[in-house]
Amino acid sequence: MADKVRVAVLISGRGSNLLALAEHKRRDPDRPYEIVLVASNVPEARGVVLAKRLGLRTWSLSHKGMERRLFDQKLDTVLREHDVELIALAGYMRLLSPEFVERWEGRILNIHPSLLPLHKGLDTHRRALLAGDEYAGCSVHVVTADLDSGPVIAQTRVRILPRDDADSLAARVLEAEHELYPAALERYAHELRGAIGEGREGGSDD
Ligand code: GRF
Repeated sequence: MADKVRVAVLISGRGSNLLALAEHKRRDPDRPYEIVLVASNVPEARGVVLAKRLGLRTWSLSHKGMERRLFDQKLDTVLREHDVELIALAGYMRLLSPEFVERWEGRILNIHPSLLPLHKGLDTHRRALLAGDEYAGCSVHVVTADLDSGPVIAQTRVRILPRDDADSLAARVLEAEHELYPAALERYAHELRGAIGEGREGGSDD
């Protein structure tokens, strides 16, 4: 058994969470995950350039004009070719098909910039301000078929200040994301590795 959980990070944009995940690993190579692939549906995304600079393997394919299921099949194939065990969505701005989510059940994490279950979907910071919330924040959750609705495994609150607008709030929440996601992924990978190990031991009797 490979001792590190093989992670693919899926991105569509600037990739700051990808950088946080990669840096966390670089600071301590003993952490129980390894980023084996960065995949993107936006070939020109800044995050793809960043991934290459970090020396990570990349795969990108524009989803434009392609049926969702077909795109996800291609994605699934490349993930399997790289023996990926866990997927981390990091600003992946595309819904995954139900077939894909089912196939990877319990193996996809996402970071969302709100205190789920509040403010699912887009434009979270503006909505938190409009709602008069005292706190904004970010959540890491397991991805299920319903958008931003799977079990939350980690969350950080960020106080909303009187002078905040959506941009200032987004910037502070993003800082919190960069702390939260690596720690949550590390813990989840650790648990997953334990679960896979036990499964294999259990299966060795027959
Ligand atoms: C983050 O705010 C994340 O919570 C959301 O998309 C944004 C991605 O930012 N899902 P980055 O590409 O990681 O910088």
